[in-house]
Amino acid sequence: MARPAILIARAVFPEVEHKLRQHFEVEAAPPGVVWSPSQLVERLQGKVGVLTTGGERIDAALLAACPQLKIVANLAVGFNNFDLPAMTAAGVLGTNAPDVLTETTADFGFALLMATARRVTESEHFLRAGQWKEWSLDLFAGAEVHGSTLGILGMGRIGQAIARRGALGFGMQVIYHNRSRLEPDKEAACQARYVGKDALFEQADHLVLVLPYTPAAHHTVGAAELARMKPTATLVNIARGGIVDENALVAALRERRIAAAGLDVFEGEPTVNPALLTVPNVVLTPHIASATIPTRTAMATLAADNLIAFLTEGRALTPLNPQVISA
Ligand code: GLV
Repeated sequence: MARPAILIARAVFPEVEHKLRQHFEVEAAPPGVVWSPSQLVERLQGKVGVLTTGGERIDAALLAACPQLKIVANLAVGFNNFDLPAMTAAGVLGTNAPDVLTETTADFGFALLMATARRVTESEHFLRAGQWKEWSLDLFAGAEVHGSTLGILGMGRIGQAIARRGALGFGMQVIYHNRSRLEPDKEAACQARYVGKDALFEQADHLVLVLPYTPAAHHTVGAAELARMKPTATLVNIARGGIVDENALVAALRERRIAAAGLDVFEGEPTVNPALLTVPNVVLTPHIASATIPTRTAMATLAADNLIAFLTEGRALTPLNPQVISA
């Protein structure tokens, strides 16, 4: 019997590709290649599964053009690139890659918070440019991190892991806002206090965004929310770019209505709003919060295992629309 054919839409580590080749006929994007939507549809012809990275949009038009497709395994915990209702309607299973990246992503959230509050990249640019002439008392004086108030918007697994770092490691007062309040034992484990959304913006010294992106979450942080923040506050976004109105943020940073921002995600990534590049008090990184070799290997392996489990045994490890399996 012919083996099922699958596509790897963006290059993965060789050991993960090798694992998939033990079960399937595999076509894989070469390293560095990003297919356009029409090239993706072309490559998907005859494929029953695809490993995507979050950069490939899976919508009704693609599904209609790829009727053989049965599963899309996303190598990301976020799945805002999926039109999940359209996938369910087409009987296509979606899976994501949760849990394996939680602690690594929380580490990076904290790294970005620290770099932003303590002006790490701004001061390094100054030094590299040969501008450092003498030590002075207020040279790149930043914001205090230990003992300050850490605000977290979106208190899922990653939000809770960031809260633990802040409370237990840095003696911060942690406040959070989320669609639903955590169970008391979970709140206690990360020493976090639930507050309303306005209070979160008003009280946080450092505000980290970790909420999932949905159309309803578009521009959750706009001019009105930025206006509520302290002029000394920092804002860190490791969620999705569309959560922040970048033009409003640029204006707030330029006018020092907030002190600084750290962004790992962007509205039009990989294109970065040129205005952001002109603002000194922002730290910019290229969507790398989960990027360590062990974690990215674990994410790719989980996506591969979802493809293998579903296409060989009809089950999945981390299904997003399990009703497709039961149907
Ligand atoms: C990365 O942004 C992810 O969703 O895993």
